[in-house]
Amino acid sequence: CAEMAMVCLTDFEEYAKEHLSKATWDYYAAGADECCTRDDNLLAYKRIRLRPRILRDVSVSDTRTTVQGTEISFPVGIAPTAFHCMAWHEGEMATARAAEAVNTCYITSTYSTCSVEEIVAAAPNGYRWFQLYVYRDRKLSESIVHRVEALGYKALVLTVDVPYTGKRRDDIRNQFKLPPHLKVKNFDGVIQEAAGPEEYGIPANTLDPSISWKDVYWLQSLTRLPIVIKGILTKEDAELAVEHGVQGIIVSNHGGRQLDGGPATIDALSEIVDTVQGRIEVYLDGGIRTGSDVLKAVALGAKCVFIGRPAVWGLAYKGEDGVREVLQILNDEFRLSMALSGCRNVAEINRNLIQFAKL
Ligand code: FNR
Repeated sequence: CAEMAMVCLTDFEEYAKEHLSKATWDYYAAGADECCTRDDNLLAYKRIRLRPRILRDVSVSDTRTTVQGTEISFPVGIAPTAFHCMAWHEGEMATARAAEAVNTCYITSTYSTCSVEEIVAAAPNGYRWFQLYVYRDRKLSESIVHRVEALGYKALVLTVDVPYTGKRRDDIRNQFKLPPHLKVKNFDGVIQEAAGPEEYGIPANTLDPSISWKDVYWLQSLTRLPIVIKGILTKEDAELAVEHGVQGIIVSNHGGRQLDGGPATIDALSEIVDTVQGRIEVYLDGGIRTGSDVLKAVALGAKCVFIGRPAVWGLAYKGEDGVREVLQILNDEFRLSMALSGCRNVAEINRNLIQFAKL
């Protein structure tokens, strides 16, 4: 029942699993193939141990930080995830209001079930980035870039790990499809009408698998917004991202939904941070479930982390209030972990907190 006390993020997971339809739950939970990478995203945090410092007067603590020069209340934002109306009737509008209330960054997915106009109207003062997939029909991508820029989105997040959709066994078994009453609202009447086989209720083959580094220049020619590349897992690609003049990287394996067998994101973070050397901001998503996960990621050099599934669980629980509660619990846990390890503010969190001998 909705009145039970929610103590940690996995309480929301259990609630969502119990209350969503099996096909919907399976879609949100899915990982690719054997789900090794999905599961390792969480397990990798549990292998890392902290080196807490003591007697440092933690009577006052400050969790604020900045991303791309904008202040947010703590280094946790909302990762782009598709189809929020399957979890809660107000969908992305509720997510946007929660992020606005907590003063953090919400990355809106291309595959939203509310339009970007509806999302902005629902939370006019929210700080938002827009996640972009590049379509074979480049005019379609161009028009959404111009729309979100005009609407006040503050960065474009180019997702680069989906030349094709990963093989998610349960979705295949369930023949998962976006329910007929829902739409990918940003392209209402455009891609819906295209003929051909469907994938998740979106015509297949809409995304362009030929996308390559030169398309970063193409995107830069369309917009003055900062560009953040989401889906980098190696130092080689991090270096190329810097060389191509983007403003940020999200170390991500798409929540383990694409290539199974890739690294846990927290394990990939260090080589990327070492290569980037502070030239651009490095963020991370995947497997963040507690405040100490956030602390570990920040200690290893992430400027901010993003949560995917936990935000959807919050939505399934209680819409806007549920997402707010998820963010609030994570904020409380992060603040406590900071204090218990002797950090008074985010600037004091650094690599000395990590027990490398144990890794
Ligand atoms: C995603 N993710 C994703 N990423 C993206 O760039 N565009 C998208 O539309 C989606 N959609 C999506 C749907 C669902 C149901 C999930 C679980 C994930 C990936 C997402 O942004 C993020 O990388 C992961 O969700 C992070 O892992 P956690 O926090 O879910 O463990």
